[in-house]
Amino acid sequence: MSRVQLLFAGADEYNDIWVKAAASLPDLDLVLYRPGLDPSRFRYLMLWRPVPGLLPAMPNLKAVFSFGAGVERHLANPEIPAHVPIVRMVEPGLTQGMADYVLWQVLRHHRRFWELEEAAREGRWAPHWYPAAWDRKVGILGLGNLGQAAARQLLSFDFQIRGWSQSRKDLPGIASFAGTAELPAFLKDLEILVCLLPLTPQTAGILNAGLFAQLAPGAALINAGRGGHLVEADLIPALNSGQLAAASLDVFATEPLPGDHPFWAHPRIFVTPHNASDTDPGTGLGEVWRQIVAFEGGRPLENVVERARGY
Ligand code: GLV
Repeated sequence: MSRVQLLFAGADEYNDIWVKAAASLPDLDLVLYRPGLDPSRFRYLMLWRPVPGLLPAMPNLKAVFSFGAGVERHLANPEIPAHVPIVRMVEPGLTQGMADYVLWQVLRHHRRFWELEEAAREGRWAPHWYPAAWDRKVGILGLGNLGQAAARQLLSFDFQIRGWSQSRKDLPGIASFAGTAELPAFLKDLEILVCLLPLTPQTAGILNAGLFAQLAPGAALINAGRGGHLVEADLIPALNSGQLAAASLDVFATEPLPGDHPFWAHPRIFVTPHNASDTDPGTGLGEVWRQIVAFEGGRPLENVVERARGY
């Protein structure tokens, strides 16, 4: 196979580390998009934020590789032609990063480390009781690649794991709930809820007061899906009433989270800057290259977005 060119666009802040990663793939030519570049010859595009006018100028495009796992921004981009497949990012670095983030936050809430940290800041010696991990009910909304990896990580720490997804999954050790009808049974008595759903019209706003009321009193919320999953106005009232004890949020309706947003100052909301997990340039580009080689060899692309279902 001759050298293949991949145009890289809409993620300029990552340019340097991706160019460095590409150096280890001699048959791949990673070309950074810049205004004025003629994109018409490229057959493969790696895209994150939309670059207006780019796709209509790419008549030879065979596939769009999403820089990230969430693809709602691509589905909202009217410039991506319907016949061009969009490939979601599924790669070990992104998967492991999310499993790490979820484990970190679940442990924080499981052991209520924030109470110990608050006490330490005030110079108070205040040990507290906590249940064993095997008595802790943790639920994961979304059992795709990331949700399954997070579930496996938590299982290895002996938590009780439930998962909820569109279709039922047969995963060892994980109680699987599917569809709207089974959402209440999934939520019942959950003490820690993790959201890793794709953002679709069906999942937008799913984290709301009505859902919080179905969890165990004093439950914790972890959202590393999308900001659009959370009805932001419902969170602080749920924390103030004690329905929720605390929340870890990585994603927000508006990003960057505005400096005057009340989430920053709330003592029981733990904000991270959409940094739960990132695509690793080494393994991420390796995965894109693996797919290009297979596709050029006549094999189908994997992890292609189903546009009708929205992920
Ligand atoms: C990041 O948010 C991603 O979708 O990978």
